[in-house]
Amino acid sequence: MPGEWHDVGPVDAASEDAPLTVKVGDREVGVYCLKGEYYALEDICPHAYALLSQGFIDGEEVECALHGAKFHIPSGKCTKEPGGRDLARYPVKQQGGRLYVKIG
Ligand code: FES
Repeated sequence: MPGEWHDVGPVDAASEDAPLTVKVGDREVGVYCLKGEYYALEDICPHAYALLSQGFIDGEEVECALHGAKFHIPSGKCTKEPGGRDLARYPVKQQGGRLYVKIG
């Protein structure tokens, strides 16, 4: 898969209840940690404009703080409207205590 890996911070910057909010190039990305696994999702809610990583974590889902849409973190699937569509997912890896997200 083409694309570039981007260093988005130390591994402990994303915790179970506090995702990491980062900007990679012109994209907003939310990096989540669930049971020791990391996931990176498009961060702008497709419904209007809210950063999902600033929303509420409920199990494996994140709920948008603005109108309550929900998305499944491992798959990016919209599980509750008004999300409108699924979220783009990005590959994540850990290396040398840092987190990297692949974009492009
Ligand atoms: S902006 Fe996220 S549900 Fe409306």
